Amino acid sequence: MKKISYFLVAVFISIGFQVKAHEGMWIPMLLRQNFAEMQRMGLKLTPEQIYSVNHSSLKDAIAGLSNSPNPQGFFCTSEIVSSQGLLFTNHHCGFESVQKHSSVKHDYLKDGFWAMSQKEELPNKGLTASILVRMADVTDSIVPKLSDTMSRQQRSAIAMPIISRLKKANSENGKYNVVIKPYFEGNKYYMLVYIVYRDVRLVGAPPSSIGKFGGDTDNWMWPRQTGDFTIFRIYTAPDGSPATYSEKNIPLKPKYHLPISLNGIKEGDFAMVWGFPGSTNRYMTAPELEFRMEHYFPPLIEAFGKKLEVWKKHMNANPDVQIKYASNYAMIANSWKYFIGQMRGVKKQHVVAKKAAFDKRFAQWVSESPERQAKYGDALKDMTDAFAAESKTIEPLIYASITGAQGAELLGFAQKYSGIEGLLKQAKETKDKAQKAKKMERAKKMASAMEEKLQKSYKDYDMATDRDVFAAMTKMFFEKVPENLHPEYLDKMVKKYKNNFDAFASYVFEKSHFSTEAKAKAFLANPTLKEIEKDPAFILSQAYMAKLMDASSGYRAASGKLAEGKRLFMEGIMQMEPHKAFYPDANSTLRYSYGKVEGYYPQDGIHDLFQTHLYGVMQKEDSTNPEFIVPKKLKELYEKKDYGPYGQDGKQDVNFLTTNDITGGNSGSPVINGNGELIGLAFDGNWEAMSGDIAYIPKLQRTIVVDIRYILFVIDKYAGDTRLIDEMTLHKAMPQPDRVEAATTPAAVPGK
Ligand code: ARG
Repeated sequence: MKKISYFLVAVFISIGFQVKAHEGMWIPMLLRQNFAEMQRMGLKLTPEQIYSVNHSSLKDAIAGLSNSPNPQGFFCTSEIVSSQGLLFTNHHCGFESVQKHSSVKHDYLKDGFWAMSQKEELPNKGLTASILVRMADVTDSIVPKLSDTMSRQQRSAIAMPIISRLKKANSENGKYNVVIKPYFEGNKYYMLVYIVYRDVRLVGAPPSSIGKFGGDTDNWMWPRQTGDFTIFRIYTAPDGSPATYSEKNIPLKPKYHLPISLNGIKEGDFAMVWGFPGSTNRYMTAPELEFRMEHYFPPLIEAFGKKLEVWKKHMNANPDVQIKYASNYAMIANSWKYFIGQMRGVKKQHVVAKKAAFDKRFAQWVSESPERQAKYGDALKDMTDAFAAESKTIEPLIYASITGAQGAELLGFAQKYSGIEGLLKQAKETKDKAQKAKKMERAKKMASAMEEKLQKSYKDYDMATDRDVFAAMTKMFFEKVPENLHPEYLDKMVKKYKNNFDAFASYVFEKSHFSTEAKAKAFLANPTLKEIEKDPAFILSQAYMAKLMDASSGYRAASGKLAEGKRLFMEGIMQMEPHKAFYPDANSTLRYSYGKVEGYYPQDGIHDLFQTHLYGVMQKEDSTNPEFIVPKKLKELYEKKDYGPYGQDGKQDVNFLTTNDITGGNSGSPVINGNGELIGLAFDGNWEAMSGDIAYIPKLQRTIVVDIRYILFVIDKYAGDTRLIDEMTLHKAMPQPDRVEAATTPAAVPGK
């Protein structure tokens, strides 16, 4: 599952029921917490082979993918599969990179992309791959200096300098990138030391008809037949150190790469997933969940749903728009379906009632002693109060951000001109001639810097699409956001256009300097204060931002005591069950989860098997539906059963299920068998367990995995990029001769 990073309001936490089999995204350095159980389930490796600070180990093959130069915000996971830095991840993780390299002439989304030599591998500006060098528990350097009576601000004022010092001391003069993060709601702190590689090139991607087979219809669903993989390669400076793109760079020589098993899987096999899950809310209380269900999801679903509808209309009508909006559409469609599924799952699984029962148990435990009451007595109440207050402010905030400031792309473009506007204004206001000249000079410089970036900003922009988005979003804003948060300008214009939002949109896009690249370019050649200040998109973007600040300050005030309540609640429940091993909520740091290959029973009378096959692709084929087109070449291979060493018993396995506990951010994570070999890539979760980020459901929750043998089949047989197969380490067991034969056939003598 890809990490869903929607926006500003990172509000949420989570709850602990009893940890059940296979639940948990565990901390790598605490491997021994579960090691004996993993051995019983079939793990053959030693702890040192998995997580070692002194030797190369499995963890050295796992890389977090990010668009940041720092090791944070990992949207997906990837793994090294060759001694030359070859990297596997999901197709939907590489989708944005593939999209950026695509045009109607070279539509790599549709046709796939295969570099047939290292020379043809494509750089991706800004994409980074981070590998964890080591981690350490630094709680004792921070937490003893803090106390319960301090406010959140006081706590952070004390923690910040300690964290800065630790980061500096462990970065080895910039060689490593150090992050310190709170775990368990700030009851623990761990330090994560990373090496961040900044030249990550696109090597290969199947066509969407393989990599995204089933599209948004099948997304979050099982049974599934998706070849959800893309291949990248990490490059380094000639001396092996991280570097941004340069022709001189060479493929990474990794400390470790994962061997690949061609032996297939069977139900019950041990499976381990390593990756960077983004966030979960397993310790969420009932009031928070009710808040989400009633006030948080509904506006999100409505606003995103509308935007998707408008985009889709234009994408279907225009192949150019189809490519330009493919990545953004996929991202929002994915979140949108997730919200809907989560709401549905919470209801079906009666999660609110389960949380309420747990909250009650906690309250009972607290009431049993005066010490507990003194320490934890307010935790639940503080949280309940905070959510009651937030429930009044969240809806306006969501509508104001999604349909206002973040509504049309045009407003985002306009927003970028506030720097120039500020300088021009200062220049106008100052009497001092020298000052004036200086400000003008700076404004000019800023304008030419912006001009250089114009082409990139407008590359994936379609004005007609955005104008319709503007009309729809503005209408929703006008109707859903309370009047006190309406920009005056908006009300004035809506009145002027007699509530005709299309007409208003046409006016704005006609009049604004920022609705096409050419107009923006002309404006930047000679920017004037007068023109900016009367630009309708600029006026509206400024007003929306101001109103958004108002809306979020109300929201923030309501959430004052929340963090403290959450921290104490977490501490309390860990005290309540002192013998239980707790795992912290996901926080975009390296975790492992363990489980086994297993199907499930989605409803009475139905058993979903653990595996799908290529014939399932053929069964779903629908040449009239873009989501279910099957490429001709794939059909030919299927008809000839030309599966090479990747098929089994005349069948090509495609996807399978495991019981591993994963979430967004784990997309692309390696699924590893008991011998430490790669057997697949995790890429999704199943519809029946969409409430899983809030409460894990052992009976239903599954990880959907693309079988590594399907990936290799596509690379080798479909794309013919055999050079890639040659650099991997493939393990295939020899067929075992049966006993009689073994006894009568003379053994081959090594060396003869
Ligand atoms: N549900 C998957 C995830 O969250 C994304 C799958 C992308 N596919 C799609 N049809 N949008 O990682």
